[in-house]
Amino acid sequence: MSSDIDELRRELDIVDVVSDYIHLERAGTNFKANCPFHPDRTPSFYVSPSRQIFKCFGCGVGGDAIKFVSLYENISYVEAAKQLAKRYGIRLRIKEDTGEKGKTHQLLEKVAEFYHSKLKENREALNYLKGRGIEGSTVRKFMLGFAPPSGELVELLKKENALEAYERTGNITRVDEDKFRDLFRNRLVIPIRDQRGRFVGFGGRLLKGEGPKYINSPESEVFKKRELLFGLYEGLNYLRDLKSAILVEGYFDVISLHQEGFRNTVATLGTSFGKEHAQELSRFVERVYLLFDGDEAGRKAMRLSVPHLLKEGVEVFPVYLPEGFDPHDFVLRNGKQALRGLIENAKNIFELLKMRIKEGKDSEKAVKDFIYYVSFMKDKIKAYTLISELSKLTKIPVDVLSARMYKVPESPQVEEGGKLSFTEKVFLKGLLELKPQIDLDELNLSIRAREYARSILNEEYYPVPEEVINLKTRDIESEFWASVDKLKIDIPEEELSSSVGVRESVREFIRKHRGGIKPSALRRWRGGA
Ligand code: GTP
Ligand code: MN
Repeated sequence: MSSDIDELRRELDIVDVVSDYIHLERAGTNFKANCPFHPDRTPSFYVSPSRQIFKCFGCGVGGDAIKFVSLYENISYVEAAKQLAKRYGIRLRIKEDTGEKGKTHQLLEKVAEFYHSKLKENREALNYLKGRGIEGSTVRKFMLGFAPPSGELVELLKKENALEAYERTGNITRVDEDKFRDLFRNRLVIPIRDQRGRFVGFGGRLLKGEGPKYINSPESEVFKKRELLFGLYEGLNYLRDLKSAILVEGYFDVISLHQEGFRNTVATLGTSFGKEHAQELSRFVERVYLLFDGDEAGRKAMRLSVPHLLKEGVEVFPVYLPEGFDPHDFVLRNGKQALRGLIENAKNIFELLKMRIKEGKDSEKAVKDFIYYVSFMKDKIKAYTLISELSKLTKIPVDVLSARMYKVPESPQVEEGGKLSFTEKVFLKGLLELKPQIDLDELNLSIRAREYARSILNEEYYPVPEEVINLKTRDIESEFWASVDKLKIDIPEEELSSSVGVRESVREFIRKHRGGIKPSALRRWRGGA
């Protein structure tokens, strides 16, 4: 395959190819233009016919003719090669994936195309997108779609003889002998591709009516949420060129930021950012800008994701948005230059903490955070340098600071001391989300659960397993207090040895203690209203 692409490259003339897209002016032996990839007032984009490459001295992108097309059209390198071959009548043989998984990807692509074609027929969905500032070209780039009521999709799949195969992806379910339900029916559909551009699943956004705001394809052989990043495929060229990524929380943040020219934006699929995500990103970038919401949840998301990035040697730049704004709202309201400004002025996380310490703003917390984050750094020499800088700043001796360093468990996911019970998982999830005031000593927790609970209370989220972080709950508040209720029941010796039958005393005990920890009482207990 690659030798084919080499041949294509030799056949193409980069000046021809680029001239199809932008106006080039002669500049000696080279050509120049305003760069199409970043806002450029003076021509900093050059094309060299002798070397058959382009290069922008403003934003740094560069490469061959195929790369130019892949950047401009926002498609993969291979796809760009295919397009160019077609345009110039050059033969190109590229192997198609024909295995079982390959077929699933192709089927998912067909369904994505179907949804995409249905969007044009749905005025309401189109208006919705327009109302949110999403342009036609963006709709096409991300192949956004609309899922009509299930019947039509089922018809299509039957015609393709692919109903059973598609059912295995979990995206439709059989509800009756010959009746199927499309998981995404009546939703706006966002196709999700893996890093290689293969279709792996969908996210579906509710436009009206009842139900969860988003539904995602279920986990499967082709759809693995902990490894996938939305926007990675669409932005891969930019991640590589800029050596940085912008990490946001939502699908719509990715879509609108790409549209506004921040084409290295990615997001998880609604789950927390974990080790696999960090490993994936570290293959392409050196820096990650974290654009989380400026609220408590955003702050927490940051503490959860930063350790993973630092562990992979990626530099982290938190970007704070005003409270109540997500990145999408922010660009809609303030424009892309404002966001560009925030990103360009962003400080490395350690610089940021040092600044906070210097300003004396909650500096004790900043010192603790500094030490916590340094603990994860891959480069131990850099870590030591940072610790000595912190020492100079705070006048606290290096060895005192180092002693406080967080001992990163080598493999926090290892099942040590048994599994967490479901109640414990709910309890830990609640601790994470609700930040209640709670005394762990009053609870009957396994050693493992207690360790996790401690790290959550210390805001050292690193060891907390993903099965807790991503646990699905319906009403975490009430489920949490119910779990506390269960964990609190502890039968003291005297009660057991009293003259009443044991079973009686247990029942009595539970009644008594249940009464004592009614939700209202608990709310008072943790200091709320
Ligand atoms: P808009 O509200 O349309 O702006 O969407 P958003 O993409 O900005 O989403 P939001 O910030 O509310 O949530 C961030 C991400 O969390 C989403 O993109 C989804 O991946 C995920 N998410 C949000 N709500 C739900 C839900 O109800 N169910 C599931 N499974 N995921 C959700
Ligand atoms: Mn949003």
